Amino acid sequence: MKYENLIIIDHPLIKHKLTYVRDKNTPKKEFKELVDEIAMLMAYEITKDFPLEEIEIETPICKTKSWVVSGKKVVLVPILRAGLGMVDGVLKLIPSARVGHVGIYRDPKTVKPVTYYFKIPSDCEDRDFILIDPMLATGGSAVEAARILKENGVKNIKFMCLIAAPEGVEAFSKAHPDIKIYTAALDERLNEKKYIVPGLGDAGDRLFGTK
Ligand code: PRP
Ligand code: URA
Repeated sequence: MKYENLIIIDHPLIKHKLTYVRDKNTPKKEFKELVDEIAMLMAYEITKDFPLEEIEIETPICKTKSWVVSGKKVVLVPILRAGLGMVDGVLKLIPSARVGHVGIYRDPKTVKPVTYYFKIPSDCEDRDFILIDPMLATGGSAVEAARILKENGVKNIKFMCLIAAPEGVEAFSKAHPDIKIYTAALDERLNEKKYIVPGLGDAGDRLFGTK
């Protein structure tokens, strides 16, 4: 199925690294490093449309004009906990980005999102926001996080994840047709426990070594 606001970032290095992220035998340390690296590679693509302005600088040879990214600082908003695992990777490419947080977990029984924390910079108008979570499963958590951002005055949002399920893409696109979803992979489906198949398991547990 074709989703208008879905961008699958198709790159051999991302595909390669994602294979080892999916592999259940990949140790925690390597898992985190790979997630970071994929996030960094994805950030390169996600920031492709950032506006530029010309400034004057002086090289050791002469004065010249050169390009810098214009506008206010970007805000990264990881959905706690697992979203934290991708922040450092994105910060490697956008070190000046601010970092907000939204704390949401999926109730294991109802699989509905439960929000417990929210903090973003106060002057959020005109800033570009990147909402971050490795997993888009039912879509409940990401839909709610984007809703809260909008409720707090945020206008420009992109959502990035590692793996999306068709069900999550459908739900997110319906709730937020104005937000582009960037993913490294679109998987087959959800299982009866609403985990992504084939997926990578529980992203938070694998990142933080919990169970
Ligand atoms: C995971 C994941 C997403 C959510 C996706 O978080 O990181 O936030 O589930 O599922 P959904 O699309 O069906 O809402 P989890 O609830 O396990 O919390 P954690 O990151 O604190 O482990
Ligand atoms: N949350 C995860 O961490 N993994 C899934 O497959 C679904 C939700």
